[in-house]
Amino acid sequence: MVSVGYSARQIALHWFVFILVAVQYFTGGNMTHLFRAAHGGTPSEVGSIWAPVHIAVGLAILATMLWRVRLRGTVGAPPAAKQHPALQALATAVHVGLYIDLIGAALVGLAANFWLPQLAGLHRLMVRPILTALFGLHVAGALWHWIVLRDDVMARMLRPAPDGSH
Ligand code: HEM
Repeated sequence: MVSVGYSARQIALHWFVFILVAVQYFTGGNMTHLFRAAHGGTPSEVGSIWAPVHIAVGLAILATMLWRVRLRGTVGAPPAAKQHPALQALATAVHVGLYIDLIGAALVGLAANFWLPQLAGLHRLMVRPILTALFGLHVAGALWHWIVLRDDVMARMLRPAPDGSH
């Protein structure tokens, strides 16, 4: 569904996920120490509080991303910016990749933590190289639109569309 712009709620959820993912990068190293200690590795000096924090924030990312998918269906999203078709395809692939990777990483993290510890490596792969690459491309694209093309792509993720109060 195509809309005039993003709604206030969609914008708030976008930046909320950004903050939550930053928290996960901050707590992830400690989570790795604690997880390895719990699975027969070297005992860890790290405060055990970081495990529930990492799990709770991961679940919040999962819930927020699912809500965002639902809002794309109900409220829609503005049309892709006009640019070279190859860049447009890359932007779409990065967006879809971010949705899949964030939802998938949270589910794999859950599975690794509670049932299948052998999946921890897959979780790390999804949140280190893959998420970092997707995030880097996403930010590079936003800066390209903002600084070089000077179009409204950045502005529409900062200001809600006139009818976008949901
Ligand atoms: C999309 C949400 C999530 C992000 C972005 C994320 C991010 C991270 C990061 C950056 C690390 C450190 C990896 C490293 O040391 O290289 C990590 C480790 C870990 N996370 Fe998450 N995480 C998320 C959700 C979750 C959830 C929901 C759980 C469990 C319920 C979880 C369980 C774990 C575990 C068990 C490790 C240790 C993996 C290992 O040592 O091999 N994560 N996570």
